[in-house]
Amino acid sequence: MTDQKQDHVLIFDTTLRDGEQSPGASMTHDEKVEIATLLDEMGVDIIEAGFPIASPGDFEAVSDIAKVVKEAQVCGLSRAATGDIDRAWEAVRHAKRPRIHTFIGTSPSHRGITGLDMDGMAERIHDMVTHARNLCDNVQWSSMDATRTEPEFLKRTIDIAIKAGATTINIPDTVGYTAPRESAEIIRMLIEEVPGADEVIFATHCHNDLGMATANSLAAVEAGARQIECTINGLGERAGNTALEEVVMAMKVRNDIMPYATRIDTQKIMHISRMVASVSGFPVQYNKAIVGKNAFAHESGIHQDGMLKDASTFEIMRPEDVGLTETSLVMGKHSGRAALRSKLENLGYTLADNQLKDVFVRFKELADRKKEVYDEDLIALMSDQTTSA
Ligand code: KIV
Ligand code: ZN
Repeated sequence: MTDQKQDHVLIFDTTLRDGEQSPGASMTHDEKVEIATLLDEMGVDIIEAGFPIASPGDFEAVSDIAKVVKEAQVCGLSRAATGDIDRAWEAVRHAKRPRIHTFIGTSPSHRGITGLDMDGMAERIHDMVTHARNLCDNVQWSSMDATRTEPEFLKRTIDIAIKAGATTINIPDTVGYTAPRESAEIIRMLIEEVPGADEVIFATHCHNDLGMATANSLAAVEAGARQIECTINGLGERAGNTALEEVVMAMKVRNDIMPYATRIDTQKIMHISRMVASVSGFPVQYNKAIVGKNAFAHESGIHQDGMLKDASTFEIMRPEDVGLTETSLVMGKHSGRAALRSKLENLGYTLADNQLKDVFVRFKELADRKKEVYDEDLIALMSDQTTSA
């Protein structure tokens, strides 16, 4: 085992492929190139830039991304078919570090769709991974819907892929069905029971249909997976994919119990989150972990007072760590006197206790009428106060 496999977790971002597959979330060529550049600067290890056979536009985007990305591996997706694999290779071959990612659905329902029985599928996996490996020395195999595939057959598919030369083995929870304990058990079972498993990197690729994608990804890492597949803001099909910002910050903040390192510069998270929200047209929900508008905002008096005295009272991360300049104290009807004093001081008003008492009464009346009291409202309140004094 290398050092990397002991404590380093590779971050594989698929915002431009699985993320873009969200209905209604398509991005232009230039937007994709810009996002790929940001992902590279942020320290993402592998960028899945698209599905080159899907359309000429996808091919162009993957191929241009391959040319501009400086550090990250650039990956193109392909079904387990020679035409797909050749097209993916054509698109990524100019990258400094190209990767071909090929897959087939291995669960009973997926086998039904492809019309292949177990033996037919085994042969296809062998032939297609071998074909990809003859083109590129960096090949990722995915047994799609792995978590609903019979364990014995799943082991067989992985065994064949490893023997045919796959260097990364991805275990997708394609429909977000798995629970964290199972996610760990599947990875552990494969690493223990498939010959040659310690020569490859195991990846986890989770969807969020039951809201467990982050927990499932981290459970898989604890069981030995060393690549997490994820997207910015959790963008992705249906309820989305594992959110990059969540797994990265979870491993950073709880490094005491999850001692894994990534190369991600977390201070770049907020910028790229806003960029992806804007170009995809998918706004980030206010209470989304890490990147939501309210993730570092406090309104209640007790919380604001605590934050003013010691930020660690109600915040487990520093806003600067995700690229924000400061925590926001939102002024509303739950806010207390300490927060009002601090806000007014920031706006240039220093008040004696009795003045503050007066302003506080008027602030509460206003807050009852307005959901949020903005700086401009406070300035207006202060100018009324000076006029009537
Ligand atoms: O969810 C999935 O199974 C996928 C594969 C193509 C890896 O996105
Ligand atoms: Zn997926």
